Amino acid sequence: MQIFAHRGASGSYPENTLLAIEQALLAKADGIEIDVFCVENELVVIHDEDVSRTTNGTGLLHNFTLQQLQQLDAGSGQQVPTLWQVLQLVNNQALLNIELKGADTAETLVALLKKAETELGTKPDKLLISSFNHHLLKQIQNHRPDLKLGALTASLPLDYAAFASELGAWSVHCDKGFINQQMVQDAHQRGLKVLVYTVNDACTAKKLQQLGVDGIFCNYPLQARNW
Ligand code: G3P
Ligand code: CA
Repeated sequence: MQIFAHRGASGSYPENTLLAIEQALLAKADGIEIDVFCVENELVVIHDEDVSRTTNGTGLLHNFTLQQLQQLDAGSGQQVPTLWQVLQLVNNQALLNIELKGADTAETLVALLKKAETELGTKPDKLLISSFNHHLLKQIQNHRPDLKLGALTASLPLDYAAFASELGAWSVHCDKGFINQQMVQDAHQRGLKVLVYTVNDACTAKKLQQLGVDGIFCNYPLQARNW
């Protein structure tokens, strides 16, 4: 079972920061999951639409300029990083799972990746683009059919894997609360990997491994190695 550091090594370091991502790399996580929004045409790595929970600022992200956002403390003196900085840091050392959060992120990502592939040597096969918004995934696919897509689900759809197969996704990303063996088998029969979020204890990780789950999103990638 692969280990994806969820928002970096976010159990021990401030989530979605370069520090948390660096620690996930040191922990030899197979993958690193981050969340991105678009601010002034730049993709920034932050989970919420409101900066209050994860920084020393307050207010909605869309009321900030990029410069104002980068002046905030995202924990331990860390900045809210740009996706460009993360691509530079990860440098193809792990599978980078970029979760698109805002409706305007898809087009910006396509343009940014083109530049990153040329200037940073970013390898497309080291990327996994996911979203709860499957329209965004479709947009990505229209421009970049070569990229791996992960269809996120937050609830239990009647035929949860069908939409992912139709999309030609690489994986389905499910909440640990509703996964079962039949769902894993169904996804596997459709050629989809099953990744489960967010798993932060050995007991749940072991149960999921027995179900045949392919990977977990975990806030403690270093500890997860020993589970
Ligand atoms: O990508 C898995 C998981 O991160 C999705 O939920 O809310 O943590 O972004 P959330
Ligand atoms: Ca996420």
